[in-house]
Amino acid sequence: MEYTTLGSTGMTVSRICLGCMSFGTEREWMLDPEESKALIDRAIDLGINFFDTANVYSTGESEEILGDALAGYDRDSQVVATKVFGEMDPGNPNASGLSRKAIEQELAASRERLGMDTIDLYQTHRWDYETPIDETLRALDDAVRRGEVRYIGTSSMWAHQFANALQTSDALDLERFATMQNHYNVLYREEEREMLPLCDKEDIGVIPWSPLARGVATRPHEEIESTTRGRTDQYLEQMSYLQGGGEAINERIQELAADKGVSMAQISLAWLLHKDWVDAPIVGTTSVEHLEDAVEALEIDLSDSDMEYLEEPYEPLPVAGHQ
Ligand SMILES: NC(=O)c1ccc[n+]([C@@H]2O[C@H](COP(=O)([O-])OP(=O)(O)OC[C@H]3O[C@@H](n4cnc5c(N)ncnc54)[C@H](OP(=O)(O)O)[C@@H]3O)[C@@H](O)[C@H]2O)c1
Repeated sequence: MEYTTLGSTGMTVSRICLGCMSFGTEREWMLDPEESKALIDRAIDLGINFFDTANVYSTGESEEILGDALAGYDRDSQVVATKVFGEMDPGNPNASGLSRKAIEQELAASRERLGMDTIDLYQTHRWDYETPIDETLRALDDAVRRGEVRYIGTSSMWAHQFANALQTSDALDLERFATMQNHYNVLYREEEREMLPLCDKEDIGVIPWSPLARGVATRPHEEIESTTRGRTDQYLEQMSYLQGGGEAINERIQELAADKGVSMAQISLAWLLHKDWVDAPIVGTTSVEHLEDAVEALEIDLSDSDMEYLEEPYEPLPVAGHQ
């Protein structure tokens, strides 16, 4: 396993983060607790020490599964990230968003489900248009001072919003967001325009979500619907991965994978791992073999001309993943 220092924090994480959205019962393609535990155990065997979940993943089930599976290990050896923002209790408007009340209540519930006194990385899942950013940052800063959270991070938003949040933390002497969890992969590169250069300048740890384009960068485009998730993932359509130059990129991933004798998923992940601004892609998988594939991708060397070949057909896409 390769490790890296996450952005401006002093914390060391594996260059593959295991995404925990696939643990729970919310969707047909997800893993039950026992299957999830087997995947987490194998991840730890492989040297992965970085896990990403959220309060909303299967409405808390993912956090419970992760907490239970990690309980058998030395807590200090793992880095656990979770998120707050999404709706946890329909009908209760204070069980979502980033107000002080929502953050304090949701943080208590996440710590309980994870069985952890301190969460390593507590992330805001989306921008809250109803709550002033200084209220959110003060509530997060207090959580750090109370020792309930070590670092704070955030997820998809516009670059101007992220710049505003960082500037507000600096002006008020509050904890800064140390990480950006954004939508970035070989088939969706809109983040290269504004967000990634900003992260680079501010020394922000970058941990992309859907690094394999929800599976679209792992198999020929004609076969996207060959898996249960490929047929039923309600967000796939919004992502436009195969628009513009997407099909041509998918075909070039196939070609390079065949040339090098590796899988398409490995070429797609290797592309991301070769981008200097990426710390650790958050890989989503329900299969031990695919997890092993991901870890092996760290050893794949792509030349500058391989990188250019994969990138050349890309055409700008509609922004997907946040509003
Ligand atoms: N912050 C946010 O808003 C946000 C949004 C989405 C996701 N996330 C995070 O990002 C994580 C990953 O997201 P994701 O699941 O959408 O991303 P992904 O890693 O881009 O895609 C997962 C899909 O790729 C397939 N796959 C993975 N490795 C493969 C391989 N070697 N060969 C063939 N297929 C392979 C998986 O199938 P198998 O299951 O068969 O391996 C699954 O269908 C989540 O768990 C979550 O932690 C965050």
